[in-house]
Amino acid sequence: MEKPKFKTVQEVIASGEGLPERYLHTPTTESQPLDAPVPEMDIPAIDLILLLSPSEYGRQELSKLHSALSTWGVVQVMNHGMTEAFLENIYELTKQFFALPTEEKQKYAREIGSIQGYGNDMILSDDQVLDWIDRLYLTTYPEDQRKLHFWPEIPAGFRETLHEYTMKQQVVIEQFFKGMARSLELDENCFLDMYGENAMMDTRFNLYPPCPRPDKVIGVKPHADGSAFTLLLPDKDVEGLQFLKDGKWYKAPIVPDTILINVGDQIEIMSNGIYKSPVHRVVTNREKERISVATFCVPGADQDIQPVDALVTETRPRLYKTVKKYVELYFEYYQQGRRPIEAALI
Ligand code: OGA
Ligand code: NI
Repeated sequence: MEKPKFKTVQEVIASGEGLPERYLHTPTTESQPLDAPVPEMDIPAIDLILLLSPSEYGRQELSKLHSALSTWGVVQVMNHGMTEAFLENIYELTKQFFALPTEEKQKYAREIGSIQGYGNDMILSDDQVLDWIDRLYLTTYPEDQRKLHFWPEIPAGFRETLHEYTMKQQVVIEQFFKGMARSLELDENCFLDMYGENAMMDTRFNLYPPCPRPDKVIGVKPHADGSAFTLLLPDKDVEGLQFLKDGKWYKAPIVPDTILINVGDQIEIMSNGIYKSPVHRVVTNREKERISVATFCVPGADQDIQPVDALVTETRPRLYKTVKKYVELYFEYYQQGRRPIEAALI
């Protein structure tokens, strides 16, 4: 079995070779050093139970959701049905996995041409500046798409917890789709129907080790997600995630026990551009390591993804073409340094 020839960030650090050129943004395309301080974004925490309640509070929650998703494209979600202890366990297992010896983690190493498994930043072109990140990427749903040989057997409980997390996230995903539809005064199943029965979930465990040059090295380059939307468990102590709005960067607040949900390109398309798929990035930290767990909700490969009819009006003409297998298109564009959603614009 062929293993990727590049070192993970943890291996680069352990080798003592110093900071390889391939990670350096020089000069940066940004006008500011990457670690320049930025203001905090002002996004609401949405109560997932209230969101689907027919009460006046429910209507208020829907309007909060509408306002946040049409400006930032991001919300924090609370009352998501997962206990603090359960989420704590996911963070703990993530830390434990990345703390394992290299040989143990290499058992789950990504194979060439495959996105699943453990490894460094995906290298798509020779001149790509690398992100300061190691990850374990696993398809979790549907179950028959799981490649269990990439699922860690150590730490104990990792597989079972990931399975349980997947099941719990599914409930959140369904509720969130319904909430989004209702917040746009649409039939509550209209996004879910387009998402399809063959939708997939991919979970990515991310490690951002401490970095000697946070001014010139980035954890994740600016991008918008190719998913319908993404569920994120950001590190509980270490900041780093930032969102772009009107040309300026803002940091995501850390709100304990919430799940951060950001719109991806495919909800932007389905909502005819009303809900924004935000550009975001992760900056590095000189002293502290950071972890996060991201789950991408991906519509079925056989689904036609397009603006829902009711959101196309005379005053709001259709902005996007019909796309299929958007994630493939996404990587093609991403590789060329372009925003993939441009390919979907009419
Ligand atoms: C991603 C992402 C943010 C984070 O994986 O697409 O944006 O905080 N992650 O790790
Ligand atoms: Ni992202």
